[in-house]
Amino acid sequence: MDTIELEQTLVLIKPDALKNSLTGYVLSQLSEFHTDLRFAATKIVHVSKMLAEEHYDEHRGKVFFPSLLDYIMGRIHYPDAPQHRRTIAIVFQGVDAIKKIRAIAGPTNPLVARDTQPGCIRSLGTLAPLKDAEGNVIGERMDNLIHASANDSDAEKEIKLWFKPNDIPPSMHAYEVNVCNAFYYLKDNKLSTTDQPGSICFLSPGKIAWQSDLEAMAMLREGEPAPCSLQTVVAKYLINREQENS
Ligand code: GTP
Ligand code: MG
Repeated sequence: MDTIELEQTLVLIKPDALKNSLTGYVLSQLSEFHTDLRFAATKIVHVSKMLAEEHYDEHRGKVFFPSLLDYIMGRIHYPDAPQHRRTIAIVFQGVDAIKKIRAIAGPTNPLVARDTQPGCIRSLGTLAPLKDAEGNVIGERMDNLIHASANDSDAEKEIKLWFKPNDIPPSMHAYEVNVCNAFYYLKDNKLSTTDQPGSICFLSPGKIAWQSDLEAMAMLREGEPAPCSLQTVVAKYLINREQENS
């Protein structure tokens, strides 16, 4: 297959879209008929704090960061129903996948979307006041229904954050994979190569993993600085595990 046809992008149908029954509408807008893009992978995710923090890493420290985590984790739209807190993660593949989906999604701010691009998906979003502990308004939250990767490097980072290679048919792999040859465990949020009481084995010999994750693990194992954090690698292996469902 031509590499240009392999361009992939991550879409997240966020909890406000699920709550407002807009899932079908979003999928229809992004359908192969309208976009000439194909599904490469999809999963329903109860988003953990670790995954939320890694996904929105670039916004760490900003005033709206905590509300952004609550939003993608479903806490805002399903405050009393943790079992309903879901985000739908989808990988779309095809020519100009990133640009096409960003255009259909529209501007980040739903009010700007309504003003400048009526009919785009985010024109159906809302703004909500953002308050501090005392109830003072300190900004606004942008409930904009979907996420779409902004560029090639974000798409690669985000697809590898949310999906394991085995979540995607091998013929649709856009990034290098390799066979793991070591045991890797998570214990108290730290990497370990030996099994200890309470540790979680997230990679083992024979498992197929993203090559970049294997390289990062090999560096972290040696105590060297790696191009991505341990949490970036681990988060996908903990998706929908019972103990992560806080
Ligand atoms: P995504 O597709 O969700 O990544 O949106 P984007 O690429 O259009 O925007 P960006 O990655 O910069 O921001 C991610 C999310 O953070 C947005 O969807 C908004 O919900 C939120 N956000 C970004 N900038 C602001 C801001 O200035 N104020 C507030 N309140 N929220 C913001
Ligand atoms: Mg973005």
